[in-house]
Amino acid sequence: MLPTCEELGIGFVPYSPLGRGFLSGKIDETTTFGSNDNRSTLPRFTPEARKANQPVVRLLEEIGRKKGATSAQIALAWLLAQKPRIVPIPGTTKLRRLEENISAAAIDLTAGDLRHIQDAICFSYSIWSINPLTSMRQSQGIRCELGCCARILV
Ligand SMILES: NC(=O)c1ccc[n+]([C@@H]2O[C@H](COP(=O)([O-])OP(=O)(O)OC[C@H]3O[C@@H](n4cnc5c(N)ncnc54)[C@H](OP(=O)(O)O)[C@@H]3O)[C@@H](O)[C@H]2O)c1
Repeated sequence: MLPTCEELGIGFVPYSPLGRGFLSGKIDETTTFGSNDNRSTLPRFTPEARKANQPVVRLLEEIGRKKGATSAQIALAWLLAQKPRIVPIPGTTKLRRLEENISAAAIDLTAGDLRHIQDAICFSYSIWSINPLTSMRQSQGIRCELGCCARILV
């Protein structure tokens, strides 16, 4: 799909660019969701999937520390670095986060940063996909974070 968008000059808005908040680092396996929050019903938000996806968030935080940025900003900067026509539109109910997210457009990630993030995504994905005990439900969970974008883009 992305090559076709590129060829025809069509923009691409990645779905839930912060993984519905997961990539901000504010959510881990102990987080609970209200009954009206549908993340509690999504495979990628099972405690197991949230735990397994933490290394990606830790890496975003580590890169963010070096740049004075949050992991949410690094996740958005990563998407923005992929192709000029890929335009994340994160959702938030808070003005300060809207401002934080907009500032991600000013962050330059090096080729090394981009490679580290890509490697972390692929590593997380491979752990889950080669584990013989992994159910389809769990493997869908791991794919749904940054990994789903990465798998489209590589
Ligand atoms: N999810 C859907 O069903 C759906 C459907 C149609 C279209 N979309 C599109 O998807 C995009 C947005 O996706 P989304 O809202 O589903 O997911 P998202 O942008 O990946 O994540 C939104 C979540 O992240 C939190 N958040 C945002 N910025 C943050 C920050 N800087 N630090 C910490 N937490 C942060 C928000 O919480 P707070 O509000 O507390 O900040 C919210 O819970 C939009 O383009 C939207 O139009 C989504």
